[in-house]
Amino acid sequence: MTVTGLSKRFGGIVALDGVSFSVKSGEIVGLIGPNGAGKTTVFNCISRFYTPEAGEIRFGDVDVLRLAPNGLTGVGVGRTFQQAELFKTMTVEDNLLIGLHNRAGRMNPLAYFASIFTGIEDRTHRDAVSEIIEFLALGEVRAQPAGSLSFGLQKRVDVARALVAAPSLLLLDEPAAGLTQGELKDLADLIRRIRDDLGVTVLLVEHHMNLVMSVSDRVVVLDFGQKISEGTPEHVQNDPAVIEAYLGGSIDAED
Ligand SMILES: Nc1ncnc2c1ncn2[C@@H]1O[C@H](COP(=O)(O)OP(=O)(O)O)[C@@H](O)[C@H]1O
Ligand SMILES: [Mg+2]
Repeated sequence: MTVTGLSKRFGGIVALDGVSFSVKSGEIVGLIGPNGAGKTTVFNCISRFYTPEAGEIRFGDVDVLRLAPNGLTGVGVGRTFQQAELFKTMTVEDNLLIGLHNRAGRMNPLAYFASIFTGIEDRTHRDAVSEIIEFLALGEVRAQPAGSLSFGLQKRVDVARALVAAPSLLLLDEPAAGLTQGELKDLADLIRRIRDDLGVTVLLVEHHMNLVMSVSDRVVVLDFGQKISEGTPEHVQNDPAVIEAYLGGSIDAED
């Protein structure tokens, strides 16, 4: 995926100011920056929730900004949400089945139920869901209502929901937020396995420095809507512009 000159404003606020970066196939790229830097806005432009005033986003041959807002899953891009957005009263398994029908990025239960009536919801779908449930070790909770799970597990279900649609690029928005120490370690392993075992390219927006630095091949740093640094984890950690952006404090500082 290549993002070129992306700009987005909200009234007087310039959320993104000509941001360019790329994510190569098979990479794990971290997108970091202080609060309000524009990270989520980048995601929302890629996933077509926001329309940028300027810039281009290319995914292979696809001009993403020309896609219908619900066209992203169809071209192989999946995303998770900062607050795992699940159907709380539905089981984990049903949430994942909806993920298969989710050609939008926002879930559409109508498409899911329509497919049950038309019989499209077939074995293949159940198999895909079972594979991902196993991959993410969600077997024990597959029949439980999503809303009854811990926040950490709900976030894992959200990752599963994105993965069942078999994306080639996965956008993760703050997957570590709200996780316990133990869950954090599992998350780092999980992100690596998503790339190594499933062959999925990952763009990771994250606040948690240790996580980003330990899993990313490359890191892109935003501050006030502009890219201020880019490179290997070592490079950006030692870049004075990055240290300055994080208020002169240690970049290892966590929330
Ligand atoms: N829907 C919106 N309406 C108005 N301002 C917004 C909206 N989304 C983001 N912003 C503003 O854009 C800037 C970047 O926000 P965001 O992309 O959420 O930052 P980050 O995810 O890096 O914390 C912030 O100043 C934020 O207040
Ligand atoms: Mg954000």
